[in-house]
Amino acid sequence: MSRAKSDALVFFGATGDLAYKKIFPSLQAMVKAGRLTVPVIGVAKAGWTLDQLKARAQDSLEKHATIDPDAFPKLLALLRYVDGDYHDPETWAALRKQLDGCRRPAFYLAIPPSLFETVVTHLKASGCGNDARVILEKPFGRDLASAQELNTTLHANFPEDSVYRIDHYLGKRPVNNMLVFRFANAFVESFWNRNHIESVQITMAEDFGVQGRGAFYEQVGTVRDVIQNHMFQILCNVAMEPPVRTDGESLRDEKVKVLRAIPPIEEANLVRGQFIGYRSEPGVAPNSRVETFAAVKLEINSWRWKGVPFYIRAGKNLPVTCTEIVGRFRKPPATIPEQDLLENHLRLRINPDVTIAMGMTVMGSDDEIAGQSTEMLASHNPSPEEVDAYERLLTAVMDGDSTLFARQDYVEEAWRIVDPVLAKDTPLDFYEPQSWGPRSADQLAPAGGWRNPVVNQAPAAAAPANSAPAPSSPVKP
Ligand code: BG6
Repeated sequence: MSRAKSDALVFFGATGDLAYKKIFPSLQAMVKAGRLTVPVIGVAKAGWTLDQLKARAQDSLEKHATIDPDAFPKLLALLRYVDGDYHDPETWAALRKQLDGCRRPAFYLAIPPSLFETVVTHLKASGCGNDARVILEKPFGRDLASAQELNTTLHANFPEDSVYRIDHYLGKRPVNNMLVFRFANAFVESFWNRNHIESVQITMAEDFGVQGRGAFYEQVGTVRDVIQNHMFQILCNVAMEPPVRTDGESLRDEKVKVLRAIPPIEEANLVRGQFIGYRSEPGVAPNSRVETFAAVKLEINSWRWKGVPFYIRAGKNLPVTCTEIVGRFRKPPATIPEQDLLENHLRLRINPDVTIAMGMTVMGSDDEIAGQSTEMLASHNPSPEEVDAYERLLTAVMDGDSTLFARQDYVEEAWRIVDPVLAKDTPLDFYEPQSWGPRSADQLAPAGGWRNPVVNQAPAAAAPANSAPAPSSPVKP
């Protein structure tokens, strides 16, 4: 794998939403850190000029970051622009001209997946893509067959080690911190396995709806949007074995092994929900059957985890925004009455704060023998992200480091797991906005119930186990 630095960054979709919200702020941060000094070429079909793109960059930074008086002018000086249709040979000729003298450009496809194939094929055919890196945004395909097809197109033009599939969760420091916590602390190994852990649940809750992205959401739904990618990345960090070496490939090998051990999801182990009001969102079909909430139960048939159920639930319009993992311990042999035994757990919170905590039982403050739950905090950081995920990932691409990117075999395994339920019209239940999803999700819950994260409280006062879900009302879309 070539670790030579890229000598230009080209981003397709320069006038789009992702560039506006994420890419310009990351580019300025990279310039500020001294990690971006090469030409940055935006490409789009918008009829724009370079000055308009610069104005857009300024607007983006004013809205989604802050203008840095040193770094911003430097970024503007690096910026170039090519306007044109991706099917038009003139667009590619103009791009080749802009790339004159660059030998190892990185091409970032911040464009709808339907355009990936066109751009990838033209990149190579136009001679722009020799010795290049290609960065693709998720979703990578919409099922196993389309992901395989896309991989075939990619590999006809670029070798796998030039392909960088972005899942921005891999750029999040707290997600990577999970591995440090697991593998830099020998004591964790003594309990983090089927002998001591009864179940693991992962919750990704968002307290907002589809935020004007109804048309996009109609094409994906929760399983494709966040479970097949972001949640599976977290699941892999929770469940993988320590890598045998410290290089990126060894780490990626272990992640793939987790997915290989997971059988395809059965219909009985999936609950799909849709928040009431989704069908009135712009871009959403009035009779849409797309899910905005999903809960799944998975098995990992590995030596470490066989027999331990893993649960994932994710949804829009839930009561809080929070991503959290809770591993619940098996109960101790009863020397005190079973009903007085409270839950022991390991809790890892990814956002909005970063917390690692062990939940345990101590004697209550009065004379009763009954215990009281408490949490021992290993770490708690209320304002976690000092480097944005996109900044971290784009910097890694420019350096030729693919550790934090999804490999082909990983992506295909992830689709294999969800594929059978995607192909079927599985039941869809409705839920009230700001509730914990449809009632049917409680039937799929781990023993002891879902642990609903509580946000904006001191971490030690986190929600008690088995906290009752907010009631969901009779279900009408
Ligand atoms: C995106 C999904 O990939 O991730 C969105 O398309 C989701 O629907 C978002 O809201 C969550 O990302 P983050 O970084 O805000 O947790």
